[in-house]
Amino acid sequence: MPTSSTLQTKEPKVSYQRVFELLEAHHKWFQQSLPLIASENIPSQAVREAILSDFGNRYAEGWPGERVYAGCKYIDQVELLCKQLAEELFRVEFADVRPVSGVCANLVAYTTFTNPADTMMALPIPAGGHISMGKKEFGGTAGSVRGLNVEYFPFDTDMMDIDVDATKKRVEKLVAEGKKPALAMFGGSVLLFPQPVRELSDFFHELDAKVCFDAAHVAGLVAGGKFQDPIHEGADAMTCSTHKTLPGPQGGLIISHARYGEAIKKSTFPSNLSNHHLHHLAGKAVMFAEMMAFGREYVTQIVRNSKALAQAMHERGFKVMGEKRGFTESHQLVADITKYGDGRTIEKRLENSNIILNRNLLPYDIKAGRHFEAPGGIRMGVSELTRLGMSESEMVDIAELIARVVVKRESPEKVAADVAEFRKDYNRVKYAFDSTRDAYEYIRLR
Ligand SMILES: Cc1ncc(COP(=O)(O)O)c(C=O)c1O
Repeated sequence: MPTSSTLQTKEPKVSYQRVFELLEAHHKWFQQSLPLIASENIPSQAVREAILSDFGNRYAEGWPGERVYAGCKYIDQVELLCKQLAEELFRVEFADVRPVSGVCANLVAYTTFTNPADTMMALPIPAGGHISMGKKEFGGTAGSVRGLNVEYFPFDTDMMDIDVDATKKRVEKLVAEGKKPALAMFGGSVLLFPQPVRELSDFFHELDAKVCFDAAHVAGLVAGGKFQDPIHEGADAMTCSTHKTLPGPQGGLIISHARYGEAIKKSTFPSNLSNHHLHHLAGKAVMFAEMMAFGREYVTQIVRNSKALAQAMHERGFKVMGEKRGFTESHQLVADITKYGDGRTIEKRLENSNIILNRNLLPYDIKAGRHFEAPGGIRMGVSELTRLGMSESEMVDIAELIARVVVKRESPEKVAADVAEFRKDYNRVKYAFDSTRDAYEYIRLR
């Protein structure tokens, strides 16, 4: 691992050159690897072009037509197009496309629907929750930034889902203790199956609580009609990232009903944002248009691929979570790898084999004495490989490559060479209007 002292130089031009060498090396590595991180994706060249535009150098605080800055006449038009495309794609009355990340979108939801010291229901991290829904004592955004008291949804590990009856009981107890929830935050970072939004929305609404769904991971599947549709199942809002199953630039989004539009607008600006990264706004608009044209086909293949990879890993001896329900209905799968080692060591061996995925806490890890640095699980997502044109048969090949490293303990160098060879046929981004360059081509402007 390089340290800052090994990287230091007194010659600025040397450091300057080094940055570009590292960027090019990264592109080459990803060209030869299997990117399986569930929160990542590869955007189209069209999205990359939008990100490079001059929009990235401008300011446009506020709302189109009500800006605090001049110079926004084209930016306003793109923002309105972006908003309209998001509303059409998700079949909703209101979208705010300005949040700069999924965490920022969650903060917008917290600002809109809660006050500091309110209680919020969410999943704990080992059961799939995200740090942005976390308690203050763990540095979670909800607790430490918005001052919320976070209480957990009961989780059924066999079903890999929120337990509806136990949730009702827990909430009734909270109400009796004077901790009535103001917000129920569904969704999460490990999200294999649709959650019971339909089953629990009325229950929360009767308590005067709001319901939000964090679809950071699954928003692309929601848009393509391949997962649940939280807003139409009773949720008041849905937040997400725009770069996980949605194949856009890094960013965030919040969608909702018209009746919450004005409150959400104010929570975004001025409460949580000043400027909102206008080049990414243009990239989001391009991606929403691509999703409207190709989204259904793309996400249908994603779910086929994740099921195929889960099944092929199961057949090779891996304990894939959610077996009772067919392993997964999303872009992700999670495997308990404790019989082969710990998550950190296995993540590293796979990385050395050009197979890039991440270690993950399992719902029962904390009780078993494991922690996030060396957890018992690994998580995989197939969005990026699907965009490169892979389908079910390639998933079987990938399961075999993973098994060679983890189960058969072949040398990572040998497997890395085979991965690079395997990747040669998959270097164009599919499900896009234009695909004229290699997906990971490094583009020089200097
Ligand atoms: C459930 C969930 N919410 C929010 C986020 C944060 O998204 P972002 O990285 O876009 O801020 C993530 C990131 O992985 C996530 O999994």
